[in-house]
Amino acid sequence: MSLHTAYDPEFFRAQGHQLIDTLADYLHNNLQGVDKQVISWREPEDVYEEWRRDEGGDPQAFFRRVLEQSTHTHHPQYMGHQISPPVPITALGGLLADLINNGMGVYEMGMAGTALDRRVCEYLTTAMGWGPSSGGFVTAGGSLGNLTALLAARQAQAGFDAWQEGVYEHQPLAIMVSAQSHYCVSRAAQVMGLGEAGVIKVPVDAHYHMRTDLLEELFAEAELSGRKVFAVVGSACTTATGSFDELPPIADFARRHGLWFHVDAAHGGATVFSDKYRDLVNGIELADSVVMDFHKMMLTPAIATAVLFKEERRSYETFTQKAFYLWDKGQTQEWYNLAKRTFECTKQMFGLKFYLLLRTFGTDLIREFVDTVYDLAKTFAAQIGAHPGFELAVQPDCNIVCFRYCPPGMDAEALNELNQHIRNELLREGHFYLVQTRLGDTLWLRVSLMNPFTSAKMLETLLDEAERHAKLRLAQD
Ligand SMILES: Cc1ncc(COP(=O)(O)O)c(C=O)c1O
Repeated sequence: MSLHTAYDPEFFRAQGHQLIDTLADYLHNNLQGVDKQVISWREPEDVYEEWRRDEGGDPQAFFRRVLEQSTHTHHPQYMGHQISPPVPITALGGLLADLINNGMGVYEMGMAGTALDRRVCEYLTTAMGWGPSSGGFVTAGGSLGNLTALLAARQAQAGFDAWQEGVYEHQPLAIMVSAQSHYCVSRAAQVMGLGEAGVIKVPVDAHYHMRTDLLEELFAEAELSGRKVFAVVGSACTTATGSFDELPPIADFARRHGLWFHVDAAHGGATVFSDKYRDLVNGIELADSVVMDFHKMMLTPAIATAVLFKEERRSYETFTQKAFYLWDKGQTQEWYNLAKRTFECTKQMFGLKFYLLLRTFGTDLIREFVDTVYDLAKTFAAQIGAHPGFELAVQPDCNIVCFRYCPPGMDAEALNELNQHIRNELLREGHFYLVQTRLGDTLWLRVSLMNPFTSAKMLETLLDEAERHAKLRLAQD
């Protein structure tokens, strides 16, 4: 193939039309449950070997094989990791963005994309109740978003210019966060040189919410040990159980001690669009910064995360670097030169897909989605309660539910093994996709109800299937 053939618009047109047909069939078969497999599990070496032997050629065969070897998030029996089944139109936005490839670190390399990133942030800040001095940008994922926000927090509250001077000749710094927070918060702190001791883990209560009654005591201990706490992080919600920390007391605590208040709302941020569940995120408007993932609860393809600041000017203080090949002045606040505030230099048009979703369907779609899957989790919790032999880890706040099969008379280790076996068998069969987590020493099966077409009947079948696998296993022992 020559370069001319590779760039031939007619080749693209023909391949594109065929691919759209394939994907529309894929969507139909998954959404309607015509295809029974959520995943067709194969061993990693096996899949790798198949690709090693791939001889290239027809793109359509390639597309079909990738689909076969992937996890189908559009299947209503997908209920695994917190990844959305994207609204299909958003994928067309992705195709557009990939083709034009505007690497919009600077305005000139993506005028529309730059404005759209700003617009999607405005939708979120408005829904949170923040005013015109708020704002933000979109980055590549919640992990990077939390790190970026915490860097801003350190610049604002450490009491010295950590960015210019480094941290080593200063008093050791620390942040406070729930013991159930996502691991990326600790990772961010450790990337910042805070060390393990610089992450003060606040214990949780029986519902896995941060014990805000312990904040003062832990803060005093940190001070006594010579650490300067500069930020406290609330989880809205935690990853394992979907528990929303009570934000107002954390905000009060932060205000009393002059700390930056950051909220990791990577999963639960979309709750701001729901009237029914808005109370879960009460107090989010008191935060200094908030992270929300579009690719989790906002029906958008990975990866896109809003990093939002109550005072947008703070977001310019994180990185103050001169880069004469990109912009003339390092210090000026130009909202439209995004690389000044983000890790990315070459930047995808992250906000475009969510904006396309909003302008096509409106924010009501997110409200409807949040209400649907949160309601469904409550129904599932009731089903678990009514099904003999099953136990719920905790009443769900949102669409994440942890449960296990626990027939009487088995010891803790045997129960863990049994539930691990259930999960392995469900994965091997591939009709349901769910995951597992550990809370303390206990292994739980875990669903994130990410697909709005999952039904209560399917969840009842899931319990029956889990029980069937468990009983087969117990009969073998
Ligand atoms: C609460 C929370 N924060 C952050 C993250 C990390 O986000 P990302 O996967 O977009 O990096 C996750 C991912 O599950 C999460 O649940």
